[in-house]
Amino acid sequence: MTNKMWGGRFKSGPDAIMQEINASIGFDKRLYAQDIAGSKAHAAMLAQQGIISKSDAKEITRGLDQVQAEIEGGQFTFSTALEDIHMNVEQRLKDIIGEPAGRLHTARSRNDQIATDFRLYIRDAVEHLDGQLKGLQLALAEKAESHAKTIMPGFTHLQVAQPITFGHHCLAYVEMLARDRSRLADARVRMNESPLGAAALAGTSFPIDRTMTARALGFDRPMRNSLDAVADRDFVLELLSAAAICATHLSRLAEEIVIWSTTQFRFVKLSDKFTTGSSIMPQKRNADAAELVRAKPGRILGALTSLLVVMKGLPLTYSKDMQEDKEPAFDAIDNLSLAIAAMAGMVRDLVPNAEVMRLAAASGFSTATDLADWLVRTLKMPFREAHHVAGALVALAEKQGCDLPELKLEDMQKIEKRITRDVYKVLTVEASVASRTSFGGTAPANVARQARRWLKLLK
Ligand code: ARG
Repeated sequence: MTNKMWGGRFKSGPDAIMQEINASIGFDKRLYAQDIAGSKAHAAMLAQQGIISKSDAKEITRGLDQVQAEIEGGQFTFSTALEDIHMNVEQRLKDIIGEPAGRLHTARSRNDQIATDFRLYIRDAVEHLDGQLKGLQLALAEKAESHAKTIMPGFTHLQVAQPITFGHHCLAYVEMLARDRSRLADARVRMNESPLGAAALAGTSFPIDRTMTARALGFDRPMRNSLDAVADRDFVLELLSAAAICATHLSRLAEEIVIWSTTQFRFVKLSDKFTTGSSIMPQKRNADAAELVRAKPGRILGALTSLLVVMKGLPLTYSKDMQEDKEPAFDAIDNLSLAIAAMAGMVRDLVPNAEVMRLAAASGFSTATDLADWLVRTLKMPFREAHHVAGALVALAEKQGCDLPELKLEDMQKIEKRITRDVYKVLTVEASVASRTSFGGTAPANVARQARRWLKLLK
């Protein structure tokens, strides 16, 4: 059988393999709601411009509503022979309303149709992800507020560096997610222009009103160049880049949760809800959800790479290559969404082990910088020299097998005779974090203030 949509000049139908490689209905049926919304906007515009009759437009709208109800009610049979969502919907519309269905495709092509449908879908995805990210920020900011004073070691090179607070650490992720959300918001501004009415590529001879359809679909304006309108997939690329960066952020927290929940660290306890046991080792509690979140950038970055490669070197305007934009994007969006949800659950349920974290924060001579700062402040020593003296004191403590606060005053004075008992005040982890009052620093008062600021913004 030749194709009903363009059978005019075709003698035979497609080969089975042609049908298999060509059809997109298996995945683009996801776009049914956007496709129907686009068609309704187009039909209303055609009627207003006198291109089709008002009664035909009414029939088309009624028919499209029925198609949507059938799809949502699970009664719709998708056909591979009809290739994609556009032709599946249109064919069913014809079955329902007859002749007027054939007028819907006036001044339109599947090229501007898919560009419109996919933009609408990506815009919805941006909004959905943004809402989820906000939820995760809230969970982190709440943890930060309750743990503004909970001391933990801050790391560089995964070596204990300086004491910080757990709340401060949580807020670092709140900041990252804020940038992720602002990248999504930026992308949304640029993507919110309508390709509809660009038709196949060159525009149309019919007196259409592109501003009307743009407004009806919530776009800010129609795209200015019809070639660009059907050839552009920047909106997907931008979403995928933002998604890849966001997934990378989540993977860093995921990795920390994996490390923190080991028996070696014991910094946090994860809930039963987000861990699994082992089928052989009864003692095990594995952070599977965190490990999977850690792994997600693989496929999300893969989706970005895949679409960049598809688009690279593609001549204007539409080529069927661009049909390959959808599956990776759907997969990336679904998986990022799942990762954010899992992360929000883990963060909400996670219980920090304050005692263990404090002990770890006090190890590894983590207040050596505070000691050097004391020498600078009290003895007016240049920092470079103070660093050297503090280093010698660390070496001494290491030799004696003790921590800095346990060094005897007379031993310290053998290295620097001007050191007084006053130095002990800065060697505790509590004193160390409390002193970090510079803007953006880890002092509990700062952290509590920042957490409250975020909670106010997010609630
Ligand atoms: N299924 C196609 C896609 O996803 C729709 C556009 C088809 N256009 C065309 N000229 N064959 O890209």
